[in-house]
Amino acid sequence: MAHNGTTQNGVAEEIPALPFPEPVKVQDIRHTKIFINNEWLTSSSGRTFPTFNPATCVKICDVEEGDKEDVDNAVKAAKAAGQRGSPWRKMDVSSRGKLLHMLADLVERDRVLLATLETLDTGKPFLQSFFIDLDGSIKTLRYYAGWTDKIQGKTMHVDESFMCLTKHEPVGVCGAIIPWNFPLLMFMWKIAPALTCGNTIVIKPAEQTPLTALHVGSLIKEAGFPPGVVNIIPGFGPTAGAAIASHMDIDKVAFTGSTEVGQLIKEAAAKSNLKRVTLELGGKNPCIVFADCDLQMAVEETQRGAFYNQGQCCTAASRVFVEETIYDEFVRRSVENAKKIVMGDPLDPQTTHGPQIDQQQFDKIMDLIESGKNEGARLEYGGAAVGEKSLFIQPTIFSEVKDHMRIAKEEIFGPVQCILSFKSQRKAVERANSTQYGLVSAVFTTSMDKALSVSAALDTGTVWINCYNNLHVQIPFGGCKMSGNGRELGEYALAEYTEVKAMIIKLSETL
Ligand code: NAI
Ligand code: MG
Repeated sequence: MAHNGTTQNGVAEEIPALPFPEPVKVQDIRHTKIFINNEWLTSSSGRTFPTFNPATCVKICDVEEGDKEDVDNAVKAAKAAGQRGSPWRKMDVSSRGKLLHMLADLVERDRVLLATLETLDTGKPFLQSFFIDLDGSIKTLRYYAGWTDKIQGKTMHVDESFMCLTKHEPVGVCGAIIPWNFPLLMFMWKIAPALTCGNTIVIKPAEQTPLTALHVGSLIKEAGFPPGVVNIIPGFGPTAGAAIASHMDIDKVAFTGSTEVGQLIKEAAAKSNLKRVTLELGGKNPCIVFADCDLQMAVEETQRGAFYNQGQCCTAASRVFVEETIYDEFVRRSVENAKKIVMGDPLDPQTTHGPQIDQQQFDKIMDLIESGKNEGARLEYGGAAVGEKSLFIQPTIFSEVKDHMRIAKEEIFGPVQCILSFKSQRKAVERANSTQYGLVSAVFTTSMDKALSVSAALDTGTVWINCYNNLHVQIPFGGCKMSGNGRELGEYALAEYTEVKAMIIKLSETL
């Protein structure tokens, strides 16, 4: 798998040629505690939990385990930090931008360390962490730093006796719950727009991958953010996560993860204080590849879409519909292309494919691969685990996939590419749309008419045309249907983090 061009983060650049940066040796992990009020605390319960390196299944370190009581303390800190008259609330908006730029500078300074921590905790190849995740994280901070002094309301004319205007105020305390597939990047996608709009935050990293978020906690303090503006609670979903979703003093929650947990978050929000909810959930993302496309490009892009980050992407290209006349050639070339993938130690710069995140995900993927074999799909490549006690799964390609098969319906979240064939354009669009998900889709064709008419008919939040996984911080990202609500990134995300106050001023007798 080529490194270049994958943009699960906001970069479209290629990973540069040698010399590559060297991962640092991480003997001691410095930040493993709960971060509240710019201080490092042990958990109220006294419990800790281990975080593992998925490449070796060896424990990296123990981390303090936050729970409801710690979330309560964090919310108190966040509420105090964001109240009217607080240093954060009174700060002039340009200084807020300066703080975000300062944080970006510190992330750049610690880039190699953060990329190493990310690779140790997730198993993703180091060069992908360094060039893709870190670049996207820094760009996200800088992009939103530029917005702090551009949050503007409007004036409305009613008649001569009124002056009416809107003011975009912070929502208040924002909760965030993030997953393990892009731990640092998702942290930035949540905190950057929230801080830009003057909110305060309580954020829970995924239990599998708390380390980069905690390191950034130390940078937030070093940058000079007032205490309580960002609070980080490492811990588990049903405890710390659920406490965020149902908290009476959290005004908004942003969640990225499974559709199933997204439903729990909305339910908890409804049953507590009706907090605002934005959700970025799963996908079963279709690509439609027409016979008139640039075939080799389509093969490479759809496959990178399927296997990037070991297939652990909400945007994974997991249903590739290929026009019948080029189907066999497309499958043949996809198999050839997959042979270029290098599995191995994620810290090795040659490695392009690492392990899955944990045993639970590994088992789910292997079960789906078995179902593909049993339901009659043709296994073209891979299809097995690597080694006895490891979390590595071979990149796997199935052809002859039919719509009713589990691998064509369920989110796999692993390195499994499913190639289906189609004859009619109308049918292909219908099949692409016949899923509960609506996150992303792609069309490959050299016909402008096909590209535009098919993309107009696809029910997804993003449509890529002749490219894949092309995410940029300027461009809104989010799903339709059960892939979620709301948009992250770009100007659109600002609306999720501001409350619009209308002010109607009655003027005294006009002159
Ligand atoms: P998950 O949805 O359980 O975990 C995501 C986050 O939610 C984590 O921080 C977790 O601690 C938290 N969480 C879990 N239960 C919670 C609860 N009851 N209340 C509040 N927060 C809770 O996802 P998981 O179990 O790691 O993976 C399961 C499947 O979810 C994957 O196989 C994949 O299909 C999908 N997924 C999608 C992601 C995406 O980027 N959209 C990311 C991770 C998983
Ligand atoms: Mg779960």
